[in-house]
Amino acid sequence: MNSIWTAEQPIVSIRDVYKSYGPVTVLNGVSMDVMKGEVICIIGPSGSGKSTLLRCINALVGINRGSIRVEGQEVHEANVDKRELRKKVGMVFQSFNLFPHKTALQNVMMAPIHVLKQRPDEVEERARKLLKKVRLDGKEGAYPGELSGGQQQRVAIARSLAMNPAAMLFDEVTASLDPETVKEVLVTIRELAEDGMTCILVTHEMGFAREVSDHVYFTDRGVIVEHGPPEKILHLTTSSRRWGMRYGPTATAIESVSASRKSGSFESVGARTRITTSRAARSNSFPSSIRRLPLTVGTTGRSLLSSS
Ligand SMILES: Nc1ncnc2c1ncn2[C@@H]1O[C@H](COP(=O)(O)OP(=O)(O)OP(=O)(O)O)[C@@H](O)[C@H]1O
Ligand SMILES: [Mg+2]
Repeated sequence: MNSIWTAEQPIVSIRDVYKSYGPVTVLNGVSMDVMKGEVICIIGPSGSGKSTLLRCINALVGINRGSIRVEGQEVHEANVDKRELRKKVGMVFQSFNLFPHKTALQNVMMAPIHVLKQRPDEVEERARKLLKKVRLDGKEGAYPGELSGGQQQRVAIARSLAMNPAAMLFDEVTASLDPETVKEVLVTIRELAEDGMTCILVTHEMGFAREVSDHVYFTDRGVIVEHGPPEKILHLTTSSRRWGMRYGPTATAIESVSASRKSGSFESVGARTRITTSRAARSNSFPSSIRRLPLTVGTTGRSLLSSS
């Protein structure tokens, strides 16, 4: 770990990153800073390099040029300990990748016991708390095949959290879920964000991106074509349509988010502007109760959370 890194610096700093697969350039000079506790959404057309960028952040794939630092540590240095890095940066994928022959609790406990070599009794206590946090208390003994897609995805999130990461990467984690389970997962992610977890999310859920993010990046053909606070970027009539994104607004959701966001302030950070609504203000603005805040997802425009 680079000892000179401090929490005032970006927890994830991406500078001029290039990545090619053979002759195909997938990332074409991407730069981005993520501060501790920030929620960043990456949005863009299929094939624009979003998943590749996430995979580069936790070194699942290499880069051709540029720099990616996590807590000041260059991720793509030859001697970097990738296991250490992946303890720090959790990643949740569209496919849950749970062990089918292990219960929910066992899935959450595995990595801390086998990778972190922590004591099983302590791991179990924490795993139970994490399952409760993702609203799965009572399902500890269930096998993945006995859980809905949304429940499995929340086990996957708990499993990542069990490593006590400094940041979480989410790659379209609701994309394969049916609408009724999408909302459970989005609520879980929103609560993580409210708790101050640094999150980098790739999503097609524009309403959700608008609600939870501090900063939104639009990617297209390997470059960031637009970025800024969600109010600036996620205009129904401009960016989202221009980039052909799914957008499911309800006026109430958009207006409530806009109003609460207005209580935040904006400040310039280097070349960009970011919203500085405090996490407490965010919590007040976006209460955890799924009954109180409409949240729109998918193409239908209906408010899923308010229907609970
Ligand atoms: N392992 C690989 N080998 C070769 N090409 C790849 C590989 N992974 C991704 N690509 C290519 O890189 C480009 C970007 O892929 P990526 O998965 O990052 O896009 P994406 O923005 O996440 O798209 P989607 O929204 O469909 O998930 C695509 O053209 C894809 O075919
Ligand atoms: Mg992808």
